[in-house]
Amino acid sequence: MLSKEMTAALNKQLNTELYSAHLYLSMSSYASSIGLKGAANWFMIQYQEEMVHFMKFYTYINSQGEHVALGPLDAPPNEFPSLLEMFEETLKHEMFITRCINELTERAVKEKDHATQIFLQWFITEQVEEEENDREIIGKLKLIGDNGYGILMIDNELGARVFTPPAAAAA
Ligand code: FEO
Repeated sequence: MLSKEMTAALNKQLNTELYSAHLYLSMSSYASSIGLKGAANWFMIQYQEEMVHFMKFYTYINSQGEHVALGPLDAPPNEFPSLLEMFEETLKHEMFITRCINELTERAVKEKDHATQIFLQWFITEQVEEEENDREIIGKLKLIGDNGYGILMIDNELGARVFTPPAAAAA
């Protein structure tokens, strides 16, 4: 059972996850358009992961006898000044998502909603991993600077990222 307020808060996060998916899809397309196929792959996988996050909220809301409320979404940016700035924007966005998940968790604690607290545990762990990955890539990009060869090397590395299908992901 979810409170009316918790249902609304979970729905808000569901829509934020969908916005995240659109943001990374936009980044993937832009990276592809400037010839960074590895980065395009990395952001496409990021998009797929966000759709998994979106579906986790979808499934959870329905499993509690409520229904999702899809809202209008802001359009994500569709041009980016550099690969470094794309990853800086990614980290900034993920830090915002971490704050959202923390606020949802605080609400669940306040409402003594144990099921939602358990549901959110997966996201708390996931956010640590997401921020860590972004910081690592940003660190490398800062070292590389404008070095074209270095950018190509890191693009190769980003191209090696593989999507873990939802069925095999932690439930
Ligand atoms: Fe759904 Fe990247 O957090």
